[in-house]
Amino acid sequence: MRIIAHRGASGYAPENTLKAFKLALEMGASDFEFDVHRTKDGVLVVHHDYDLKRTAGSEARIAGLGYSELQKLNVAAHFTADPAFQAAPSLEAVLDVIGRAAGLLNLEVKNDGNVYPGIEEQLLAFLKSRAGLPQKSLVSSFDHGTLKRFRTLSPDLRLGYLGHGLSTVLLAPALSRARAVGAVNFHMALRIAFKANLALIRKAGFNVFVYTVNGKEDALRMRELGADGIFTNYPDIMKK
Ligand code: G3P
Ligand code: MG
Repeated sequence: MRIIAHRGASGYAPENTLKAFKLALEMGASDFEFDVHRTKDGVLVVHHDYDLKRTAGSEARIAGLGYSELQKLNVAAHFTADPAFQAAPSLEAVLDVIGRAAGLLNLEVKNDGNVYPGIEEQLLAFLKSRAGLPQKSLVSSFDHGTLKRFRTLSPDLRLGYLGHGLSTVLLAPALSRARAVGAVNFHMALRIAFKANLALIRKAGFNVFVYTVNGKEDALRMRELGADGIFTNYPDIMKK
């Protein structure tokens, strides 16, 4: 079972910052998940939310900020254990840190309602510009239109389906949608990661990754149930 550093080692350092990715590497992580957005002037950046309210205490939205303006905001401000300044990094900066060492890079593209038109072409071009990167990349999104556009643009890009507000009854239609975009992975929330659901997803031919698993007991249970991977804020979860 893969142990995927969710937003870096985000239990120990401010999520989706270079500090969190460096720490995850130091902890021995080789698999990473992070969230991708785009600034007003077209720079791909890593941050979870569409705005800076929760992380930096700013009302600004990433889509409305130039990259240099974004660099002035402290996205570690919310992380009380270590609020020292950290900027939201560019995708390029993140990959400079973890790209070479990574075995798996899960780029979760936040593009609800196509708020970043053309991000699919841009990201694909970026991945192809770095040797070895497309092979270790797994692109996921909660936005089905985004996944569909990725598939149209690239027949061989590995895609991960992410279902919003999924429940056991909604699992079968979600599997159909995942199949329709040729996803190889199905990413589901821990709250519905029951034995029967995992079995159904794996029987349908998908790798199943579960988020967010921060307790060792849950991690061991997911392994027992046959999860292919867990997203965790604590990359050292199995050593605890
Ligand atoms: O990609 C797995 C997980 O990160 C999806 O939810 O909200 O943490 O991006 P979220
Ligand atoms: Mg995510």
